[in-house]
Formats: sequence, structure tokens, C-alpha cells
Amino acid sequence: MEFQKASHLRGEVAVPGDKSVSHRAVMLGAISTGTTEITNFLYGADCLSTIACFREMGIRVREDAGRILVDGAGLHGLSAPKHPLDVGNSGTTARLISGILSGHSFSSALVGDDSIQKRPMKRIMEPLSMMGAHIKSVKGNGCIPLSIQGGGLHGIRYATPVASAQVKSCILLAGLYADAPTTVTEPSLSRNHSELMLSYFGAHVRTEGTTTTICPEPKLHARPVAVPGDISSAAYFLAAGLIVPYSEILLRHVGTNPTRDGMLRVLKDMGASLEYVNTYTEGAEPAADILVRPQSLHGTTIEGDLIPTLIDEIPILAVLACFAEGQTVIRDAQELKVKESNRILTVTENLKAMGAHIQATDDGMIIDGGYPLHGAAIDSHMDHRIAMSFAVAALACDGTTSIKDAECVSISYPGFYEDLNRLSR
Ligand code: S3P
Repeated sequence: MEFQKASHLRGEVAVPGDKSVSHRAVMLGAISTGTTEITNFLYGADCLSTIACFREMGIRVREDAGRILVDGAGLHGLSAPKHPLDVGNSGTTARLISGILSGHSFSSALVGDDSIQKRPMKRIMEPLSMMGAHIKSVKGNGCIPLSIQGGGLHGIRYATPVASAQVKSCILLAGLYADAPTTVTEPSLSRNHSELMLSYFGAHVRTEGTTTTICPEPKLHARPVAVPGDISSAAYFLAAGLIVPYSEILLRHVGTNPTRDGMLRVLKDMGASLEYVNTYTEGAEPAADILVRPQSLHGTTIEGDLIPTLIDEIPILAVLACFAEGQTVIRDAQELKVKESNRILTVTENLKAMGAHIQATDDGMIIDGGYPLHGAAIDSHMDHRIAMSFAVAALACDGTTSIKDAECVSISYPGFYEDLNRLSR
């Protein structure tokens, strides 16, 4: 797909539903008692993988007037899947569903695409095994395909070596089925959508600092879920509105959960002033409408506890840093290496092709901003966030940019290019 410089981006974007919240709403709906009604569900390929997996286990998921209805089977009501569960490209599906499967006394298998088969699963296999699940990597490489035989779980206290909401959520979901409370401590606080939604569905979950404890539960209760807009999708328009001249973009329904809002804090640090037109609560989650206009930016340092709060926004922040005066340093972000692509490499290689002054480091990157970028041939490596980040970069540089496998944005934002094009008319 080809992209040219844009003269302006003007208008409104209703940001699509949050991917993390959409997955969790289907999962908790499936193991609750009653019907869960989900509005603003994200119809991205990853969330559709989650629905397909639960349908394979006998869960009825319907679409009705723009809502998704999930008929829960109760905490122990999933039926043994007849076929391997296909998680597609989705790390969230793979890791969270493994926690739920570990609580069920049947055998199951998880399969997925080439990218997910390279992503680390030992991080969930270790704690789930400690709880008593029999979980194996079929090829013995710590990756998918996995086979799981669940049931008879024990509560554990576990310190995760990585700040990962997927790992934390996997353990908390398994903890629902254990014989005693389960406690997870992470090195920094990762997104807390599972904790919020589990409490909202009636579970007993308590967080102090970076430690969360869940009690075993006989039952969860179906509740309506209004999914806030995904701040990770809004991120591309926040960046585009800041760097494309003569722009004015109003982003509606942006989820602003403090465990996800790191990008908003970094933008402020870089000198951007965003206008919060409206702030409110969407179900259990805070949200806002945000107005963005072009502004001059300066470099910053992004590190430490901030990293998990903006982990998916680092590719677009790296693009933005090229348009900021001075140096931006991103560190403590080694997790980027095990996302849908090795994002330290895919970001630096592609930005170098555009003429950026950027160096990869072992745990991040260093960018000297203020040098103009030019169009280039970009390889998305089938990573949705790489494709979207470089589509935005292309709008603010001279020449033509072509993005390979640009359609991979359907993982998290099927209408991304339509929304972008509409703003430049
Ligand atoms: C997610 C957590 C993050 C994020 C991913 C979605 C989730 O992964 O990168 O896109 O829904 O829990 P980690 O928590 O493993 O870093």
C-alpha cells in the first residue's frame, strides 16, 4: 500500500473498542452465569480469535444490533474442545485462555500463526505448572503449540520476572479455580483491566502496589460491558495530529485508564498540550474526548515504571521522536523484542530507511530528532502496530512510502486506513 505526504488531517475519529477490554469481556462472559452484553466490542482479528476459541468450547456468542451477547456457561461450564483452539496472532488470547483452561479438568491444545509460535509461553507455563496444571510446549521450545490438562489447581504466591498484564491475568484467571488465594507480584504495574473487570463480575480481587491477590470463586455474574476506545489505537491519531501541519483531530471515547495512559504523560513531557474536551467513565474504565493540534515537541526519556503503561505505543512514540528537537532515549523496554515482531529492530530498521537518526540498544532505542524523514519502502513484518506507525510517519515526510503487508492492521484496527483517509480529504 502507498502513502504520500498529507496537507492536513481534520475531523473526528470514534476510536474503536479497546482490544484488551474486548478480549476480557468475552472471556469473563463465557465463564459467568447469565448473558454478558458487550457494546463497542472491537471486531479486530485478535478478538475474533477469542470468540472462535470459546465457541469451540460450546459458548454461544451472538451479535445483536451492534452488541455482542455472550451466554455464559458458569465457571466450570466450558466443554472440552474437539479441535485445537486457534489463537491466530493473539498473545492475549493465548496467555489468558491458558489460565482458564488450566482450571478445567479436560485436555486441550492451543495452536496459532507463525508469529505467535515464536512468542514466549514459558512465562505462563511456569506459574500454571506451579499451580498444578499439566502444560507442555509440544515442540519443547517454550512456545505454541501447547497442550494443557487442567484441574486440581492450588493457590500460589508468584513474583513474575516481567511486568506483563497477560501473565498476571493468566495467573489471576487460574486463581479463580484454585483451592486457596493466589497472589501475583510484578516488577512494575501493568494494565489492570482484568482486575477491574473481575471485581465488576463479582470476584474478590485486591491490589496493593504491584501485588494482586484473587480468591477462588464459586461463581461470576454476567454484567454489561461498555468497551472504552482503545488508547493504543488513538495513539496514531494523537501523533498524526501533532506532526501533520494544519491538523485538528477530535478523538472520541479514548480510554484513559492510568495503567495505560503513559503516552499522554510522555506527550506532555515532550511539550504537547492536548485538550480534554470531555472526561467520563465507560463501565469500569475512565475515558475522555481529546482534541489534538500540531505543536513543536522536544526529546525526552521514556523508562522504568512508565514502560508497561505505553508498551504498545513505543513504535509510534519513536516516530514522533524523529519530529521532536533533541534526543529521545527509550530504555527498560526489552519486552519489545517479544511482541508481534521484534519491535526494537522493526522500528529502527524502518526509521533508518526513512533517514532517521536512530540507534537500537539492547533494551530500547536512542533517537536524535529534528532531521527530516523521506518516503521509503517499509516492511511491516505483519505487525499491525508497525504498519500503523509508518503510515503516520509517511503523512509527514516528502516522497512516497510503500508499506508491505499493510492490511495486517486488521488485527487491532480494521478501519484504520479509512479513518486516516477521511481526515485528509
Ligand atoms: C495486553 C498486554 C500487553 C500488550 C498487549 C495486550 C493485554 O502485553 O502488549 O498488546 O491485553 O493484556 P504484555 O502485558 O504481555 O506486555
